[in-house]
Amino acid sequence: MRRLLVTGGAGFIGSNFVHHVMEHTDAHVTVLDKMTYAASPEALAALPAARVRVVEGDITDAALVDELVAGLTGEDDALVHYAAESHNDNSLADPSPFITTNLVGTFTLLEAVRRHGVRMHHVSTDEVYGDLELDDPQRFTEATPYRPSSPYSASKAGADHLVRAWVRSFGVRATLSNCSNNYGPWQHVEKFIPRQVTNLLSGGRVKLYGSGANVRDWIHADDHSSAVLTILDAGQVGQTYLVGADGERSNLQVVRLLLELLGRDPDDLDHVTDRAGHDLRYAIDPTKLRTELGWVPRYTSFEEGLASTVEWYAAHEDWWGPKKAAVEAAYAAKGQ
Ligand code: NAD
Ligand code: DAU
Repeated sequence: MRRLLVTGGAGFIGSNFVHHVMEHTDAHVTVLDKMTYAASPEALAALPAARVRVVEGDITDAALVDELVAGLTGEDDALVHYAAESHNDNSLADPSPFITTNLVGTFTLLEAVRRHGVRMHHVSTDEVYGDLELDDPQRFTEATPYRPSSPYSASKAGADHLVRAWVRSFGVRATLSNCSNNYGPWQHVEKFIPRQVTNLLSGGRVKLYGSGANVRDWIHADDHSSAVLTILDAGQVGQTYLVGADGERSNLQVVRLLLELLGRDPDDLDHVTDRAGHDLRYAIDPTKLRTELGWVPRYTSFEEGLASTVEWYAAHEDWWGPKKAAVEAAYAAKGQ
């Protein structure tokens, strides 16, 4: 029986991965999650209790991490590391938890897998590469130099460097992936797409940072999960794989689509204070993952994926409703 330890498994993407593992493998999963404001234990509620165990705890807790990693004794067992502080705006308001969780937490996990010889996959972001010009024909590849802009992306870049150093210096069996912007169910209302969808569902308006020209490369969270499982099963130790689904859209394009999907006027939007140091464009070249490991995304139409995500939020106000007021109050205090 394969056992996976999934850190951050109650978060937006980690919980999606746990669902993916339940549907596509017979593995048993232990989730290690601190249950911060970003966690959604509800997202795990419908899963089979015989195959999913949830441990509330911190990845910086070396004793707890050691105990859980020590249980990964099978040849196919692995640690899959999603836990992080994940929101750029929060990292500008207070970088401190980003340093603790993203750097010290990753270090703590690496020391445990080193001690116990356990396979690890480290989940990271395309933001470690900084940003591209709007008209740059290049996209990010595995060879692009690191140039992070925000405290969040710098902490993820540092974590990636730690993983590579532990592979090279200590022979840790780890792979890495750097993925573009995810969308889908259970994403916290602080993030761009859920914030705008829930603003519109509540009768409010879209809040666009600056001009809205910034470009993100959108991928459905289900496709991120299938990519991580593919890398876990077939990836080469020490290698990095970029994950993306050719989903480049400007923020203005995304909000115009949302306004249309929700039957609103195309101008029901406010341009608000821009994010400090706001990265202009991210774009992933996923050739290595596609050609070497044969991965393909299921969502080839961003428009269809977005429409189903809007439907999901419309049906789950009981989940996001109680979080909404505090998030909007914090944004309003910053003129956003
Ligand atoms: P999220 O904020 O929705 O979830 C993070 C989870 O980690 C939460 O459940 C939280 O409780 C948990 N957590 C935070 N600190 C912890 C700690 N100290 N110990 C244990 N658990 C802790 O984040 P997400 O959007 O699901 O992102 C998951 C991972 O994927 C992150 O590593 C992020 O950098 C990476 N990533 C995210 C995206 C994206 O678009 N959201 C894209 C590429 C990579
Ligand atoms: O690229 C991968 C990264 O994508 C992940 O590593 C991060 O964890 C994830 O949060 C995401 O980072 P971004 O900063 O790109 O995502 P966010 O949802 O915060 O914002 C997306 C874009 O929308 C960005 O250009 C800022 C803009 N924005 C955001 C918010 C919250 C707005 O215009 N208005 C808003 O209200």
